[in-house]
Amino acid sequence: MFEQLDPPAEDPILSLTVAYRDDPRDDKLDLGIGVYRNAAGATPVMAAVREAALRIAEEQDSKSYVGLAGNEAFNQALTSLLLSGTPALDRAATIQTPGASGALRMLGELIAYARPGARVWISRPSYVNHQPVMEACGLEVREYPYFDPDSKRVDEAAMLAQVAELGPEDVLLLHGCCHNPTGADISWESWQAIADMAERQGFLPFVDLAYQGFGDGLEGDARGLRHLAERLPELLIATSCSKNFGLYRERTGAAIVIGESLAHAQRAKGHMQRIARATYTMPPDHGAAIVARVLNDDSLTQQWRDELDGMQQRIVRLRQQLVTAFRDASDSDRFDYFASHRGMFSVTGLSNEQIAHLRQDHGVYVVGGGRVNVAGLSESRIDKLVEAFLAVGA
Ligand SMILES: Cc1ncc(COP(=O)(O)O)c(C=O)c1O
Repeated sequence: MFEQLDPPAEDPILSLTVAYRDDPRDDKLDLGIGVYRNAAGATPVMAAVREAALRIAEEQDSKSYVGLAGNEAFNQALTSLLLSGTPALDRAATIQTPGASGALRMLGELIAYARPGARVWISRPSYVNHQPVMEACGLEVREYPYFDPDSKRVDEAAMLAQVAELGPEDVLLLHGCCHNPTGADISWESWQAIADMAERQGFLPFVDLAYQGFGDGLEGDARGLRHLAERLPELLIATSCSKNFGLYRERTGAAIVIGESLAHAQRAKGHMQRIARATYTMPPDHGAAIVARVLNDDSLTQQWRDELDGMQQRIVRLRQQLVTAFRDASDSDRFDYFASHRGMFSVTGLSNEQIAHLRQDHGVYVVGGGRVNVAGLSESRIDKLVEAFLAVGA
């Protein structure tokens, strides 16, 4: 049966990780896969997460099944974290999913069931898995203009001109904050304009918020999402605890549906549970149990918030240090965009040839398309990055 299969295409980011691992050079530098690293180059377990895990290990008295929607205390706590202060909290229904990836899939399947023939609009460029997941759900995917490679900012006029054409058959997939891969986020004015247009034109916004707390803090990063939730009758949200709780491998996320009424949202939740049943049945418990512990204990919540703020501030500092180092070494301000971007990533505009040279000649690993993981850099490696970039003509 299998001899007739084509060789599968390699995942561009995961295969880069393997190539990096196999590179024997001591001074190699990984700017590829999206994980946060501290100054020592490690991706540590957060202290609040470790404490919650220890308490669970001591107190949990069963490993019996939880349920199709996962851990309901987690669902409630995470929904409040995202929608706190908005009346939409009372019209929201949530299922726990295996990461935001699982949430994207469940929500994509829900769209395909509720509105067969719907088109999902994603940014150009977008998170590498948006298109494959939506297409796997049988949905048509189209792109809206997003990134201006010259200014390294969002081309908001072009984006909004496309959004102005959308109607009731369209779903608009937005990055809630810390756009992956570009690092360029839309302005507050654009969030307002999108809410106005969705209200008038009837398209459905779908917000993927995988980095809450990494850009402008927990509240700042949810501001655009909360505005849509306040203004619109319906909204879809995919969220993740991979980055802000450092729970990457525990596969912890949630799919949230806001409906015109709680009854409508609950109906959508029931369908997502049915779809989950036929997919993985139940999400893994450990990460969600940890998050529920942290968010339902005041002192653990405070500890987690402090740790998360520390990570966010360090990313901002790294971005500023990069700009200073590039200014000093290149005598130009053409790398200042690093400081205006938010979250882990920046798109640098490097060509494929430059990316290949970085890897071969300097042991610097950058994803195709030129995305750099600033949050994976340590302070002591900034000079190496700057030197290598200038050597390949960036
Ligand atoms: C925009 C976006 N959505 C979803 C995900 C998937 O996150 P998770 O690890 O929670 O599945 C990522 C991870 O890189 C992402 O950048």
